[in-house]
Amino acid sequence: MTITANWSYPTAIKFGAGRIKELADHCKVVGMKKPLLVTDRGLSTMPITQGALDILAAAGLGRAMFAEVDPNPNDKNLEAGVKAFKDGGHDGVVAFGGGSGLDLGKAIAFMAGQTRPVWDFEDVGDWWTRANSDGIAPIIAVPTTAGTGSEVGRASVITNSETHTKKVIFHPKFLPSVTICDPELTVGMPKVITAGTGMDAFAHCLEAYCSPFYHPMSQGIALEGMRLVKEFLPRAYKDGTDIEARAHMMSAAAMGAVAFQKGLGAIHSLSHPVGAIYNTHHGMTNAVVMPPVLTFNRPAIEAKIVSAAAYLGIAGGFDGFFDYVLHLREELGVPDKLSALGVGTDRIDEMSEMAIVDPTAGGNPVELTLDAAKRLFAECI
Ligand SMILES: NC(=O)c1ccc[n+]([C@@H]2O[C@H](COP(=O)([O-])OP(=O)(O)OC[C@H]3O[C@@H](n4cnc5c(N)ncnc54)[C@H](O)[C@@H]3O)[C@@H](O)[C@H]2O)c1
Ligand SMILES: [Fe+2]
Repeated sequence: MTITANWSYPTAIKFGAGRIKELADHCKVVGMKKPLLVTDRGLSTMPITQGALDILAAAGLGRAMFAEVDPNPNDKNLEAGVKAFKDGGHDGVVAFGGGSGLDLGKAIAFMAGQTRPVWDFEDVGDWWTRANSDGIAPIIAVPTTAGTGSEVGRASVITNSETHTKKVIFHPKFLPSVTICDPELTVGMPKVITAGTGMDAFAHCLEAYCSPFYHPMSQGIALEGMRLVKEFLPRAYKDGTDIEARAHMMSAAAMGAVAFQKGLGAIHSLSHPVGAIYNTHHGMTNAVVMPPVLTFNRPAIEAKIVSAAAYLGIAGGFDGFFDYVLHLREELGVPDKLSALGVGTDRIDEMSEMAIVDPTAGGNPVELTLDAAKRLFAECI
């Protein structure tokens, strides 16, 4: 089955295998004459990235790239990227990559037009209204992983390199003008990244679904996103060239990000400090902490999870769902404890303080107190 579609929700999405070839056309439509392709170091030399640059060059748009982007990108990457954007006289950003390349690309397009420091635009209240909207350069997003959903999101996660905290930077115009979802670009992902990013998509759907806020649209999207992960993540993991599975995982990733407008929860609140301090992979970290958080939340989410289990064809209600998560983790080679990702017990107090003030903590269905965070970290590590 070939899946091709043009969607305009939540932004213009060009979905289908091989559609990266349309990149230059979309750049021109949004008014770019000299785009800067932003990606991470690892991807910069890969054929998919060089191929995208070739497409731009062939259309007379140059082949400018900025790739000084770390996993869990930080303010230093951002500063260097804004400088490259301005020095090169660029007029738009092609954000290319996993969440790291996408988030940094989006942030460069945003910060190129601002005079205030990036931290003034953290996702707090209406801080985004401080921004000069007219200065934001157009963004075209091209995901190469299927997890974060940053390609359809209005936020970037940037690590503060001084305080080692992950900050969510928000502005409605972070939403790319056009997103190209080409599943062929995800074929080369190493197994561990397929697993980690896929579990990030699952965590987004699960946490959005369980968050206590009223948003029935997100609720529906989250549920179907979980179903796609259940059916297709093991397939994509086993055979990375299974384009149908890769395509459905790209949808699940985008759906997770659309759904989490309803809120995230303690999986992400615990994962963010771990990622900021130990530089672990975000989705893999989520996958490790998922079962203890489910148990912690059980009193508030049991009925919802029973409904989800029924929809997903999982027998046994909450316990059945919990066992399914354990089984999925095992199937994907996810370690049981954070210690396997290099996390020690010596910084639990500090990480707990960070977890309870993480913006995602407010969406957890059971209050994440300092004590609870400490207990959860001790169990997860
Ligand atoms: N903006 C958001 O809403 C949002 C949501 C969740 C996570 N995030 C952020 O996204 C980041 C994580 O993104 P990620 O999980 O996609 O990982 P990533 O972007 O850090 O990529 C992980 C690794 O995979 C490699 N890679 C990516 N695509 C590849 C491909 N097709 N073939 C081969 N290698 C490939 C990269 O070079 C990198 O080494 C974190 O910083 C996280 O905080 C953002
Ligand atoms: Fe996430």
